[in-house]
Amino acid sequence: MSQFNRSYFDYNSTTPLLPDVKKAITKAMDIFGNPSSTHSVGQQSRELIETSRDVIAKRLAVKSSQILFTGSATESNNQVLNSFLSPFIKNQEPVHILYSAIEHSSVRAYIEWMQSLGIDCDEIQVDGKGLIDLDHLKSQIKPHTKLIVVMLCNNEVGTIQPIKEIVEIAKAHDIKVHTDAVQALGKIDVNADDLGVDFLSFSGHKIYAPKGVGGLYVKDEETLSSLLHGGGHERRLRAGTENILGIAALKVAFEAIDPVGYNALITPLRNYFLDQLVTIEGAVVHTDTQISVCNTLNVGFKGLDGVNLAMSLDLDGFSVSTGSACSSGSIEPSPVLSAMGIDEVLNKGSLRLSLGLYNTKENIDKFMISLNTAIAQART
Ligand SMILES: Cc1ncc(COP(=O)(O)O)c(C=O)c1O
Repeated sequence: MSQFNRSYFDYNSTTPLLPDVKKAITKAMDIFGNPSSTHSVGQQSRELIETSRDVIAKRLAVKSSQILFTGSATESNNQVLNSFLSPFIKNQEPVHILYSAIEHSSVRAYIEWMQSLGIDCDEIQVDGKGLIDLDHLKSQIKPHTKLIVVMLCNNEVGTIQPIKEIVEIAKAHDIKVHTDAVQALGKIDVNADDLGVDFLSFSGHKIYAPKGVGGLYVKDEETLSSLLHGGGHERRLRAGTENILGIAALKVAFEAIDPVGYNALITPLRNYFLDQLVTIEGAVVHTDTQISVCNTLNVGFKGLDGVNLAMSLDLDGFSVSTGSACSSGSIEPSPVLSAMGIDEVLNKGSLRLSLGLYNTKENIDKFMISLNTAIAQART
């Protein structure tokens, strides 16, 4: 890992490939058969897919038949929502969907589209720490509520949600629960069976595998319909010839997942970072480290512009994010911070610093020099 990459503080946006992941991709480049072919060349690809599925299922403590490969977590999230839209469109059955106010845009944008079609969807509020308000959730349930969507861990502030409690509430009303575990995998233990959720999405590029491959845990495949129409791939739930290279990479990335080791490495770095950030005049930490994953810090700087700070840091070789990674470059206030009640000025003066396997204390020191200089310049 080069020195430049050690200055990368944007692991929630995406991660570099693990060396073993690169090796697995290189090896899989010679496995070219179509996994749907019955001949031996095709069956080599099929074996690779099924081995990867087994590894992922084991990691998530579920059955292999409950794992579906997709092209991204965006697709996985869209597919779950679409499955609740389809019966409504076919039969005009009443349907109501609840979603948290801090969901990723791959949920929010789909919900907005569903609302434009007349589907009844309501937002669940979060508190100042980004935690779901369970009383608000209960009060929003309607007789025709069919699905609750709450991410396991937030991408901007890192808050971990009480999914098991949400599932308990949902079960009492015969409601399905979908959780987006993209930012949780590798950072906390993710046991889909124990969580009790009906659907759980994940993405390769957040766990040191490549972009363009993701997946979905589906408790009962009868509750999911295909988003793409075509061949009968993935037990008819996801048409399209499988991404062999991505799936081979996912296997190795899942094998490497070690939340205990990860926390042992990252938590001291995060605490070291935090101790220095709070000494900056006007710094407001939006992340509550007691209830969040260990790698994420979201900090606002009163009266400053986060986009300008991020640009200035980038010129010094440091990569950070403002607002949600997927809307980086946008000067719109972060919807997540807004939902947490953070005012627009502080919201726009906030940075997301997300750590990963290749950060070091030395680079945090260098980063702090650069940040302090950028802040001093902005304040003169
Ligand atoms: C929480 C969360 N969900 C979903 C996604 C989308 O993942 P993908 O890039 O695989 O579509 C992201 C990416 O930023 C994310 O952070």
